[in-house]
Amino acid sequence: MFTLANKTAIVTGGASGIGLAIAKRFIAAGARVLVADRSTVGAAVVTAMGAEFFRADVAREEQIAAMFEAAWKSFGRVDVLVNNAGIQPLGVGFEQLTGELLGRTLDVNVNGVAFGIKYAGRLLADRGRVINLASFAGMIGTPGGAAYSTSKAAVIHLTKLGAIELAPRGITVNAISPGTILTPAVTDIPDNPEIAFITRRTPLGRLGRPEEVGALAQFLASDEAAYITGQNIAIDGGLTAGWTEYDLVPPANIQDGRWVDAP
Ligand SMILES: NC(=O)c1ccc[n+]([C@@H]2O[C@H](COP(=O)([O-])OP(=O)(O)OC[C@H]3O[C@@H](n4cnc5c(N)ncnc54)[C@H](O)[C@@H]3O)[C@@H](O)[C@H]2O)c1
Repeated sequence: MFTLANKTAIVTGGASGIGLAIAKRFIAAGARVLVADRSTVGAAVVTAMGAEFFRADVAREEQIAAMFEAAWKSFGRVDVLVNNAGIQPLGVGFEQLTGELLGRTLDVNVNGVAFGIKYAGRLLADRGRVINLASFAGMIGTPGGAAYSTSKAAVIHLTKLGAIELAPRGITVNAISPGTILTPAVTDIPDNPEIAFITRRTPLGRLGRPEEVGALAQFLASDEAAYITGQNIAIDGGLTAGWTEYDLVPPANIQDGRWVDAP
């Protein structure tokens, strides 16, 4: 079940964190994978696990085109595109927002996904898959998300638009919205207060692991997920299901476990 045998995939930002876990999972499921990343720091890890590495900045349309060209050259077709590359400038509210920060965030997180969908429409095989990494921060409002959360809300909407436009070719386009996941983007911040805060606010009481996101991506990439498109699937331990704390007192109408209507 959920095999990716004979499939080929591009994973952007696949040299670290969630993208790396997705690439690993795809390879274990039988796919051939090209990882496209702006940084070469993780290139050796990527090639050691059997994937191809291609250097690309997804903020640049011509580099997305080059990434597809490299995958075509290696594999002769591309079945799956995972638009995972992203920057996470959280903790910056409107007061501190600059045009430079907003511009770069939108260039990477939004343009990268939009142009990924554009080239998927041209170069992905029929019945292919596009999987976009959004975020819980694109679903609910949080302080300090002026650039990041805005970009991820856009990814959720781009997913719907891409699903509609690519549907005639049987290509599905879906988004994954993780809660806080233990990747370098989170763990490299010294004494990151987000870890304790999100753990407390998450009904399942812990942060997520990159491998758990990898498993969901594998399912969405598989033939079994052919009828799911235009959706945003949260994988967040229940974080966006609601609050973990809510002080309430039952009304006087509740007596001995029954609702007693007022006279
Ligand atoms: N970690 C979390 O808690 C979390 C939660 C929700 C959503 N996400 C999203 O998941 C995705 C992966 O996050 P992560 O935590 O694994 O991040 P990470 O920082 O560990 O890895 C991101 C990778 O993307 C690459 N990258 C960054 N900018 C790029 C660009 N312009 N072009 C190509 N590659 C680029 C980096 O070099 C790195 O290898 C991001 O889109 C992020 O917004 C993460």
